[in-house]
Amino acid sequence: MDHKRVLVTGASSGIGRSIAELLLQQGFDVLGTSRDPETIKNKLSEVKYFALDLQDPKSIDALVPKLGDIDILINNAGQGQIGPLEEVPIEKVRSLFEVNLFGIVHLTQAILPSMRKKRNGLIINLSSMSGIFGVGFTSVYCGTKFAVEGMFRSLRQEVRPFGIKVVMIEPGYVSTGFEQERFIDKSSDYYENAKIFKAIRDHNIETGVPPQEVAEKVLFVIKQKDPKPGYPVGGDAPRNAFLSRILPVRLVEWFQRRKFSKK
Ligand SMILES: NC(=O)c1ccc[n+]([C@@H]2O[C@H](COP(=O)([O-])OP(=O)(O)OC[C@H]3O[C@@H](n4cnc5c(N)ncnc54)[C@H](OP(=O)(O)O)[C@@H]3O)[C@@H](O)[C@H]2O)c1
Repeated sequence: MDHKRVLVTGASSGIGRSIAELLLQQGFDVLGTSRDPETIKNKLSEVKYFALDLQDPKSIDALVPKLGDIDILINNAGQGQIGPLEEVPIEKVRSLFEVNLFGIVHLTQAILPSMRKKRNGLIINLSSMSGIFGVGFTSVYCGTKFAVEGMFRSLRQEVRPFGIKVVMIEPGYVSTGFEQERFIDKSSDYYENAKIFKAIRDHNIETGVPPQEVAEKVLFVIKQKDPKPGYPVGGDAPRNAFLSRILPVRLVEWFQRRKFSKK
């Protein structure tokens, strides 16, 4: 692939690691990030790892000058959160937005100038089905992914004249050790419903599609001359994304409630 240089954020585990592995096999030069590269288990020997904490603007500013030219930016790193919105401490709402939105925007702003000068570039964001429809007890996570969808689908229009493409990958459940902070309190009025939701969500992630399936979709997007704005991927995700756009909203909400209630 012409030795294209790819930066994969959050390349230490899960989807990011699978993307890095597949792109290496395809001949790309892969740069990866982790909050602490020293602690990565099973490092990919040909990946050059850098430290990056998206919650810390200084870490982003320190990384960018070390990277050189990046042809493809894959904004994969992210975290989850489970809990009723009313009870998530406001500083935790802010910190999830720092990681899943502001950090990504900051990094993208820093990499765009070189792409614009070259009149060429590709930015791929790991969004989610949670960026397409709301799911109770992951309100903050959904908020971050909806925001990513809105910002980067808009950015797509701004940078198109410079030959830069922007694409969302929208996975359903993927079997990874996805880091999700939990705010579920036994004394809460929400407890019973939140507990059921958490059990179903944990099960869905455990039995989700392998991360390699998402990596294959990323490779597919890279090979497209004129990729679409969004690509749902994995299990029911493409069908659910389609249905959520054509069905009445109340019906979509009813399906969501049924999916996350006790059978
Ligand atoms: N798993 C799913 O079902 C699913 C579904 C839809 C979308 N997604 C999205 O896919 C992406 C990857 O998730 P995953 O399932 O592969 O989870 P994961 O295995 O927990 O991987 C997340 C990656 O993000 C990095 N990361 C976490 N916090 C960070 C921070 N503050 N700054 C920089 N890097 C950070 C982690 O690296 P270090 O720990 O090494 O720092 C890790 O490599 C996320 O954006 C997630 O929202 C996942």
